[in-house]
Amino acid sequence: MNGITFQVQSDKRSLSEAASEKLLALIHRKPDAVICLATGATPVMTYQLLVEKIIAQQVDISRITFVKLDEWVGLAPDNPATCEVFLQHHILQPLGIAPENYISFRSDNADEQECARIVEQIAQRGGLDLCVLGIGKNGHLGLNEPDEKLEPACHITHLDERTRLHEMLKQANVPVEKGITLGLRDILAAREVLLLVSGEGKQRAFAAFKEGKVTTQIPASFLWLHPKTTCLYCDM
Ligand code: GLP
Repeated sequence: MNGITFQVQSDKRSLSEAASEKLLALIHRKPDAVICLATGATPVMTYQLLVEKIIAQQVDISRITFVKLDEWVGLAPDNPATCEVFLQHHILQPLGIAPENYISFRSDNADEQECARIVEQIAQRGGLDLCVLGIGKNGHLGLNEPDEKLEPACHITHLDERTRLHEMLKQANVPVEKGITLGLRDILAAREVLLLVSGEGKQRAFAAFKEGKVTTQIPASFLWLHPKTTCLYCDM
């Protein structure tokens, strides 16, 4: 495999089924895998199916590490809009993941030191084996927002106005203007990437991404520089 493999799926259920199987296969293949997880509407069913399968098949996940890809900045950790609450609810609590097997940005008081702390923890675990990603309506990846120039490292980002309208933020009850995210360098260093694309409003960004040209206006397009990316998508 070299570059991006596209696999069209008939609907969200098939996409989630295929994605959860890929995650499960990695966990069987590498029981100490380090897996980075995006949040948002796209991967919800994938995570539900993964949890169901792990529990039903009694898969040993005691040595798996999960990593939070990104977070909204300035929210209390228990704010329902946070990526933290999302991952706790959909993955960490149902699977009973121990705190030492979870690497996570703080949502409150996040600063550059927080970036350094997270990147160091990932390195200590041997780097990311797999990064599960979604694409933003504006083409963002994690919270790497479209711009003339992109910051390659983990960083605090000013949210694009389209990102400020993200469904998750409707529950925040306070305006959110910044995010913290793994950078494109961290994402491209993952041994494998699984990009999931579904949902309304993604057509333009996905069409631009599929062109196969790298542009800072579509940060997801940097995945064309990654050697092993699978993109599962379904009609939007
Ligand atoms: C947010 C998340 C990203 C996610 C993206 C797409 O920006 N922080 O990790 O990939 O939204 O979200 P959705 O799947 O809801 O469209």
